[in-house]
Amino acid sequence: MKEMKYLVMMLSCLMGITEVWSAKILVNPYSQGFNSRLMNMEKLTWLLLEDGHDVSMVVNSRYDETMRPISKNVTFFKYDVPDNAVLINDEEVISTMQKASLIEGINLIVNISCSACEDVLASGILQILKAQNFDLFFFDYAEDCARFLVDYLDIPTISYVNEGAGSELIFGTLGHPEPLAIVPSLLVGFPDAMTFLQRVENTVTNIIMHCIAYNTFQHFTTLRTKYGFNTSLSIMDTNSRGVALQFSNNHNVLDWVRPLMPNHIYIGGIYFAPPKSLPINLEAIVEKASTNGIIVASFGSIFKSSFLDRELIEQMAIAFASIPMTVIWKYSGEPPKALGANTHLISWIPQNDLLGHPKVKLFVTHCGCSSTYESIYHALPVVTIPLSVDQYKHSTQLTSRLDMGVEVDFTTLVNTTLIHAINKVIGDPSYRKNAQDASKLIKDNPNNPKDLFLYWVNYVIRNKGAKHLKSKPMQELYLFQYFLLDVFLFLGGILTLVIIIGVASIKFIYRKLMLLCTSKTKRD
Ligand SMILES: *[C@@H]1O[C@H](CO)[C@@H](O)[C@H](O)[C@H]1NC(C)=O
Ligand SMILES: *[C@@H]1O[C@H](CO)[C@@H](O)[C@H](O)[C@H]1NC(C)=O
Ligand SMILES: *[C@@H]1O[C@H](CO)[C@@H](O)[C@H](O)[C@H]1NC(C)=O
Ligand SMILES: *[C@@H]1O[C@H](CO)[C@@H](O)[C@H](O)[C@H]1NC(C)=O
Repeated sequence: MKEMKYLVMMLSCLMGITEVWSAKILVNPYSQGFNSRLMNMEKLTWLLLEDGHDVSMVVNSRYDETMRPISKNVTFFKYDVPDNAVLINDEEVISTMQKASLIEGINLIVNISCSACEDVLASGILQILKAQNFDLFFFDYAEDCARFLVDYLDIPTISYVNEGAGSELIFGTLGHPEPLAIVPSLLVGFPDAMTFLQRVENTVTNIIMHCIAYNTFQHFTTLRTKYGFNTSLSIMDTNSRGVALQFSNNHNVLDWVRPLMPNHIYIGGIYFAPPKSLPINLEAIVEKASTNGIIVASFGSIFKSSFLDRELIEQMAIAFASIPMTVIWKYSGEPPKALGANTHLISWIPQNDLLGHPKVKLFVTHCGCSSTYESIYHALPVVTIPLSVDQYKHSTQLTSRLDMGVEVDFTTLVNTTLIHAINKVIGDPSYRKNAQDASKLIKDNPNNPKDLFLYWVNYVIRNKGAKHLKSKPMQELYLFQYFLLDVFLFLGGILTLVIIIGVASIKFIYRKLMLLCTSKTKRD
């Protein structure tokens, strides 16, 4: 018995020795405005801290760490941005984005990004960071300025995609295959079984996005040259050449099935957490809720309800008021006139905890990343009202791939369309059944996503960038070589030559024979 105890102690000691080693990690989240992708990066940072690493974070001066739970455990490196710098979650930016065309929207984001990057380069923070001798650089793929650091720090680097990788990674790829025939692009919102015309649109969208990316990175290249930084790596190629590994917030249960390179790791499900008890104000509402159950409606952290069109809000309020259930609507701003007695407006909800409550029967969602995963985790049927970019993809996946609800188009939404959608989903038990199946499936993994994440972070540090995981030809081939156009042209050429020679020979022999025959008949 005693020996057994010693053995266990010794074993855990030994294991402890291999585990307790601390790497210096620099985390670069998307900090041009506070949003869910920043919060997710903080959660990943917390996992690194718990694993015993020494973590620093580079953020701009508008990030208020005193409000954040990680503040005591992380060393912050901050660069100054003007107090009036435009941030992605400023009200004007979001309301402009809602009305802007795709190109205008992209221009706006690029503009914000460009001025942030100029602040980074001008601040001198890159040199300070370089002098810290970090072991690993870990950045959010959407943070364009991080690209300067990938090249400049020249240490093992990992990137993170919060919205989940589509068939293309808009701003430069990791050197992954982009199977446009079987995976719809992030922006088109098609299911994966595409018609001919959808495949045409998918391909054209992809080409346009690559052109936009190329154009965007010209601005960054100009900036980098202006401030005299190392330009050995083209900014367009930083992700494919400079990044050792990429984590994406994808899961095979939700996402379109696609081939992956071994340095692309899915960690979808990493933010799953069992529901905690509700705060008193919510608990009171839930307690008194209709026996028919509760509908939760939320349009995310960025798209506050007050940014939505007034008439749209009124129509939603009319719809909610006519459903014989209790509705909890995450909402800030002026209340709708048509607000029903059954509808409670709450400016902030602990969404994961509320969705996990057994009385909640339906989730009306814009399909942001976190909301999408939470609806699957809690096996909740959905009515989806996607509002922008990646939300259309998630909506299509929830409603057509997993079949756990229906989508409503916000541009044509009136009270009756929403009522019809809610009644359809509540009235048909197959949606709930499909949600339960998806929920079971998404929790059935060979490894806990948290362990998987930490394993690969440590793997990249241990193996100095783990270059063997990357396909060199994938990064270096021209497109015509990758698609074997040269090979098919060559083989086609040979085939044509063989056919020409064959036909010519047959003609020649035929003519000779004819000649022989005619001269023979003449002689006879
Ligand atoms: C974070 O810091 C607090 C206070 O210094 C400490 O008690 C805690 O163990 C730290 N947590 C992690 C995960 O490093
Ligand atoms: C951003 O937009 C403003 C106003 O439209 C313009 O003056 C500025 O030059 C733009 N900046 C970049 C980097 O494109
Ligand atoms: C520029 O960066 C590359 C690695 O990306 C490095 O090999 C090279 O030495 C750097 N050049 C200068 C002048 O710093
Ligand atoms: C509800 O929608 C219908 C259209 O389906 C419309 O005729 C009606 O006026 C709407 N009700 C209100 C109060 O706006």
